[in-house]
Amino acid sequence: MILPIVAYGDPVLKKEAEEIDKDYPNLSQLIEDMFETMYEASGVGLAAPQIGRSIRMFIVDGSPFAEKDEDEEEDPRAKDMEDFKKVFINPIIEEELGAEWGFAEGCLSIPKIREEVIRKEKVRMTYYDENWNFHEEEFDGYKARIIQHEYDHIEGVLFTDHLSVLKKRLLTKRLANISQGVVNVDYKMKFPAIKKGR
Ligand code: NI
Repeated sequence: MILPIVAYGDPVLKKEAEEIDKDYPNLSQLIEDMFETMYEASGVGLAAPQIGRSIRMFIVDGSPFAEKDEDEEEDPRAKDMEDFKKVFINPIIEEELGAEWGFAEGCLSIPKIREEVIRKEKVRMTYYDENWNFHEEEFDGYKARIIQHEYDHIEGVLFTDHLSVLKKRLLTKRLANISQGVVNVDYKMKFPAIKKGR
């Protein structure tokens, strides 16, 4: 089932999410629905708060990053992205390592806006997968980038929170419009500030 993605301005996106345990109701159905929702919106990551659940879980599928033209040079940051489909439950980023680099991030909750965010190139983390197997793993390149973005969501942080005051000020009107549903988007969304009578 495709779930509506909550838009910028919804308080659930600003909340620190809660850990879950194995008894969390209908977890496998929820994971399935989140993948369906993410693919429908052509996203590479989706965190539970974005579908209105304030729990520490996100999913990723980085395969769109693996697609390249034949004569294009291999991008080392895109290595093994075709297999990067995962579920992260109760993840903890233990450490961020390496050099900082900028990348223009987008977010399904903030459609049509992309801005450069500076992050470190590597993460060392622990998490449970959808079968409750525990993992301790390192990720780098675009994998780390997607994880850092999604991890922010379960901490109540959006990529716009990383922007300079000036840059954010320049986006104020567009962000307000998104909250009110004044944005052209081709997937199902839930807007927090739709005005009555519209
Ligand atoms: Ni996002």
